[in-house]
Amino acid sequence: MPEPTELPDRLLFLLERQSCGALGAPAPDGDALQLIFKAALRVPDHLCLRPYNFIVATGEGLDRLGAMMQRAAIAAGKPDDVVQRAIRMPKRAPMVIIIVATPRPHDLVPVFDQQLTAGCAVMAMQMAAQALGFGGIWKSGWFMYDRGLHRDLGLADPDQIVGFLYLGTPQRELPPPPQSEDLDSYVRVL
Ligand SMILES: Cc1cc2nc3c(=O)[nH]c(=O)nc-3n(C[C@H](O)[C@H](O)[C@H](O)COP(=O)(O)O)c2cc1C
Repeated sequence: MPEPTELPDRLLFLLERQSCGALGAPAPDGDALQLIFKAALRVPDHLCLRPYNFIVATGEGLDRLGAMMQRAAIAAGKPDDVVQRAIRMPKRAPMVIIIVATPRPHDLVPVFDQQLTAGCAVMAMQMAAQALGFGGIWKSGWFMYDRGLHRDLGLADPDQIVGFLYLGTPQRELPPPPQSEDLDSYVRVL
């Protein structure tokens, strides 16, 4: 196996990608944010249906999202500590992008293909943010499956949130990523 220093930069970037949960201001904006969305729109997309939507929350938008999450927690009958925590969830970063799979009815493209495209968009945005010097982490949690939250966000029945991408500036140095694992446990030859 070649040494990391011998690998193409773009491959090294993939191999060393990391999530960062300790995020502070600033969040990406202006050109940086546009580039992050451009990366999302370049993901593999069966028949180019663009089956996604992005909802951006910053500043008061985070408060609004927190209030929605709290309403969802109350409506779902969650315990009090979960209800209390829900309102603060989005405040763990200066920006949260909600990535929504919005499947288009199509005879040739199953809904799952389209949801995978939206999932790829999450990863692409996280990678783009990291390439620009920002950090991010893809989160889900029970909120991601809660239909009440979907309705509160104005989403339609077939829509499915596939991720909450928390973005900002890393607040600490990340430890080196884990070394490659035993590939043989995941790969087999037919
Ligand atoms: C669909 C999906 C949902 C995730 N949800 C959460 C989550 O709710 N909370 C969390 O801490 N990590 C979640 N993760 C994992 C993190 O995004 C991240 O991958 C993990 O912390 C490991 O860090 P790494 O990406 O640097 O290996 C999720 C990942 C995926 C793909």
